[in-house]
Amino acid sequence: MRPDLFYPLTYGLVTALLGIALQLVLVPAVVGLTVKNHGPFFGFRRLATGGYAGMGAGVDEQASGGMDVRPQGGRNTMTPEIQRRLKDLRAYFDQAASSWDASAHTDPAQVRSILAYARIEPGQCILDVGCGTGALIPPLLELTAPDGHVYALDLSPKMLEQCRRKYAFLCEPQSRLSFLLAPAEEIPLASDVCHGVVCYSSFPHFADKKSALEEVARVLRPGGWVLVAHGTSRAEVNRIHHQIGGPVAGDLLADAEDMAALLGAAGLVNPWVLDADDRYVALAWKEGTRAGKQVQQRNKAKLD
Ligand SMILES: C[S@@+](CC[C@H](N)C(=O)[O-])C[C@H]1O[C@@H](n2cnc3c(N)ncnc32)[C@H](O)[C@@H]1O
Repeated sequence: MRPDLFYPLTYGLVTALLGIALQLVLVPAVVGLTVKNHGPFFGFRRLATGGYAGMGAGVDEQASGGMDVRPQGGRNTMTPEIQRRLKDLRAYFDQAASSWDASAHTDPAQVRSILAYARIEPGQCILDVGCGTGALIPPLLELTAPDGHVYALDLSPKMLEQCRRKYAFLCEPQSRLSFLLAPAEEIPLASDVCHGVVCYSSFPHFADKKSALEEVARVLRPGGWVLVAHGTSRAEVNRIHHQIGGPVAGDLLADAEDMAALLGAAGLVNPWVLDADDRYVALAWKEGTRAGKQVQQRNKAKLD
């Protein structure tokens, strides 16, 4: 070899070998860590028996009861006060989870009659916010069959775990049910994906109702609806929460006027609120296409 070429050639060879070594070692390490920590889908972790769990800011893994989740995604706009409130509520519902089904008296027939206001159709994608142990899962899966999808979201790992234990068998083999461990204030879903969002017996507990409704509006498709409902009157809901005391004592349900204002502030339109002895139902829609608007108006006319 010519002596004047020795150093440039050796330098080039060493640099090339170093480059290859870096690609072989560093790239797999970084990709491996990314998949390990975040899962193959951004913002979600696959649960053992199907579906995905996501977690917004303010909820640490240790406190999540060991469920396989990481804080990630979400808007990260929560104030420390909201985060504290979510932590208290999560602790409250976690300790209530194991005895929830024995103590709660959710009437399946009444749930179905309340869901009927939303006119859920086969094939639709529905999000159940504050799903608890899953009282709404069977009717939602039935109404969206054969190919719709139900997202069951809750802040409390233990409540969600009860729900998952009861209904995980419905996830296989073609999953129509997913579990999301997250607060309503940071829903780990993409925008414009849901035909409808249901908040059954959960809305008064939301730590930041405005943010939660903005998140609901964001994940709704144009023309989609939100249903905020309880199986008793507003006065009774508020009396029960006051009587229970502790972290839920102040979790009050708004009257028709304030609820309509809350829904409107989140950009939802045509609010309709019914406060009867045996139910509280609030419905509103995300602005939609012209066709969507006609359906909204027809539905609203039937309700009125
Ligand atoms: C009274 S339980 C109702 C559960 C269920 N919807 C039912 O009717 O049986 C309220 C549920 O809302 C959940 N929850 C409360 N605040 C929440 C929030 N900010 N985000 C998500 N879930 C929340 C609680 O963890 C609890 O499981």
